[in-house]
Amino acid sequence: MEQIVIHGGRKLSGRVQVSGAKNSALPLLFATLLAPGTHRLTNVPALRDIDTVEKLLVTLGAEVRREGDLFEVCLNGKTETTAPYDLVRTMRASVLVLGPLVARLGHARVSLPGGCAIGARPINLHLKGLEAMGAEITLDHGYVEARCDRLKGARIYLDMPTVGGTENLMMAAALADGTTVLENAAREPEIVELAEAINAMGGKVAGAGTDTVTIEGVDELRPLEFTVMPDRIEAGTFMIAAVMTQGDIEVVGALPDHQEALVSKLEEAGAIVTPFDGGMRVQGTGTIQSVDIRTRAFPGFPTDMQAQFMALMCLANGTSVINERVFENRFMHVCELQRMGADITIEGHTATVRGIKKLLGAPVMATDLRASASLILAGLAAENTTQISRIYHLDRGYEQIEKKLNALGARIERCRADGV
Ligand code: UD1
Repeated sequence: MEQIVIHGGRKLSGRVQVSGAKNSALPLLFATLLAPGTHRLTNVPALRDIDTVEKLLVTLGAEVRREGDLFEVCLNGKTETTAPYDLVRTMRASVLVLGPLVARLGHARVSLPGGCAIGARPINLHLKGLEAMGAEITLDHGYVEARCDRLKGARIYLDMPTVGGTENLMMAAALADGTTVLENAAREPEIVELAEAINAMGGKVAGAGTDTVTIEGVDELRPLEFTVMPDRIEAGTFMIAAVMTQGDIEVVGALPDHQEALVSKLEEAGAIVTPFDGGMRVQGTGTIQSVDIRTRAFPGFPTDMQAQFMALMCLANGTSVINERVFENRFMHVCELQRMGADITIEGHTATVRGIKKLLGAPVMATDLRASASLILAGLAAENTTQISRIYHLDRGYEQIEKKLNALGARIERCRADGV
C-alpha cells in the first residue's frame, strides 16, 4: 500500500498550474454518448476517475485514445447500454450515462451506485426527471433500467439543485422531442460548461448558470470538440495551502468567478488575494482569523472545499463554526485532524473548531477524496512528519499533487507503507 509522507512546516511559494476539472471532464466525457463519431476533449486530467470513465466507455463499445491531456472517444460501432456494478461502485458519477444512453438509444441499464463515505447520495431526482420525460423506469437486481422510444420535453422541478441530476437531465433533454425546462437547477460552473458543450454539438440549451435551464431537443447531435476548464477545487486547495503555510502562491487557473465564496472567506481570515490574468495570487499574512462557513450549492461555499477549509481553521485565532448543508456525513476527516492535535467537536451537521497554535505530524488515514486534501494541508503546516495512508482516494481527484507541491517548496513524497 502506498502512503504519502510530508515533512511539514515549510512556507510554500511560487507558481502552480491547475489541471483540468475532474467534475467537468466526467459529464463531458459521458456527453459523447449523445452522438456517434469521433469526439476530442483536451485538458482532461490524468486521474483515477478518468481511467474509470475510459473503462466504462470501452465497456459500452467506444474506442478510446489518450495522449497527454487529449481524450478521444470514437463511437462508430454498436453502443451497449449497460453500465456494470464493478465500474459504477468505484465512481458514482457513472450514473451520468443514464441520460445520454436513454436519449440516443432508447435504453439504459445502470447499476445503482449504493452508499458512499459521505452519505446516502440517492439518484431519485435523476429518475423522477427521466420519468417526467416519458421514460419507463424499473429496478431489477440492483440495476436501474430506463426505456423509452423517444423522450419528450417536460417541465421538471428539482426538489434540490442536484449537480448530477441537472447534468443527466440536460443531456437527456438535448435529444428529446420538444422543450424541457429544469427548475431549481444546479448553477455550478460545471453545468454552464456542459451546456456550452451540448451547444457545441448542435444542441440548444439556454439559461445554464441560473436556476432555470431550458433545453430545446434536437433530432441529432454532432461529435464534441472541447477544452475542459481548470479545476476550481484543486485551485481552491492550493489557495488554502498558501494561507496555511503563510506562503505566497500564484495559482494559475484559479478563476475569480468560480471562487467568490472561498475568496471572501480567505480574505475574512486575513489572507491577501490578488487576481491576475488567468489566475489568483494568495498570500498569508502572519495570523489566521477564525471564520464561520456554511456549505451550499453554488454560488455558496462548496462542500468540496469544506474539509480543506476546516484544516485551515484548526490553526485560526479563535473559534470557527462549520456547518455542512449539502451532504449528511461529511466530517470523516475530523477524527484524523484530531490525531494531529486539532480541537474540533461535532454536533449533527455542525463542527466547532477551536484554533490551536500548531498541528503535530501523525500517521493518519484518508477517508474520501476531499478529506485526503484536508490531511495534506494539515501535514504541510504541521510540525514534524505526517504519513497519510489510503491515498488512492487522493488519486481520484488531484493530478500530480506531490510534484506540484514539491515545486512550491514542500517536502512530500509517495512511498510504500512498508518503507520500500
Ligand atoms: C457533485 C460533485 C461532488 C460535489 C457535489 C455537490 C461530481 C462528479 N461530483 O456530486 O464533488 O460534492 O456535486 O456540489 O460533479 N440528492 C438527492 N437526490 C438526487 C440527487 C442528489 O437527494 O437524485 C442530494 C444528495 O444526496 C446530496 C445533494 O442532493 O445531499 C447534492 O448532491 P448532488 O448535487 O447531486 O451531488 P453529485 O452530483 O453527486
